Amino acid sequence: MMLEVRGLGAGYGDIVAVRDFSFSVEAGKVLALLGANGAGKSSTLMALMGIVQQKAGEILLDGSDISMLAADQRIKLGMAIVPEGRRIFPDLTVQENLVVGGHVSEAATLAAGTAQAYEYFPRLKERTGQKAGSLSGGEQQMLALGRALVSAPRLLLVDELSLGLMPRIIDECYEVLAKLRSEGLAIVLVEQNTEHALAVADEVSVLEAGNSVWFGTAKEAAKDSAITAAYLGTA
Ligand SMILES: Nc1ncnc2c1ncn2[C@@H]1O[C@H](COP(=O)(O)OP(=O)(O)O)[C@@H](O)[C@H]1O
Ligand SMILES: [Mg+2]
Repeated sequence: MMLEVRGLGAGYGDIVAVRDFSFSVEAGKVLALLGANGAGKSSTLMALMGIVQQKAGEILLDGSDISMLAADQRIKLGMAIVPEGRRIFPDLTVQENLVVGGHVSEAATLAAGTAQAYEYFPRLKERTGQKAGSLSGGEQQMLALGRALVSAPRLLLVDELSLGLMPRIIDECYEVLAKLRSEGLAIVLVEQNTEHALAVADEVSVLEAGNSVWFGTAKEAAKDSAITAAYLGTA
């Protein structure tokens, strides 16, 4: 198993954002984390990266507990995140943003990873010297995704990919995710757009107030209107 999470607890000081959360993802599979605002989805991804404080449990990458490792060490081991809100660097160029994504990588990985990002997103290549802050929202999301790919991750964490984007751009980004999955990446996807999430996901976990309240296959989730109605706000 690429990623196995056992009894994860995470939070901010005294605030508990995630409680006793267990799940796993293997290579070439996508797990979608669904749930309302404030359910703990982003906190889960950020705790996996070592950015938000882990308070309990184990995070096993290829069977080894990485709980004590700093974020840059996790990136070196093959993890990367596309954070909520994109978090691109507006005053840096497209190329410079990509280089930031490879800051812990060897020079060869960085060069190959940058080329790979441009291959996935030709629009970025056309704008390589442009300041990232002047890109459209969709291009900024592509840059955030491209930046995560520069370190050649095996496990990709993606937070709210579709938020605020036009349908055509969302489709483009999701096509890339599907390609990455077929190339063997393991993906943990947080998404408010249930339809898109279920289309690409293999398994689904629903969070409510920091607790996992439902787990099943994407097919089951799509079929069971009680689940989607109760937890996802779509009947
Ligand atoms: N930086 C922070 N400081 C304190 N509490 C936070 C912080 N970020 C998130 N939280 C709290 O953690 C809980 C989970 O938030 P979050 O993981 O962002 O949820 P989601 O991504 O599912 O919308 C919420 O109660 C939220 O208010
Ligand atoms: Mg969030």
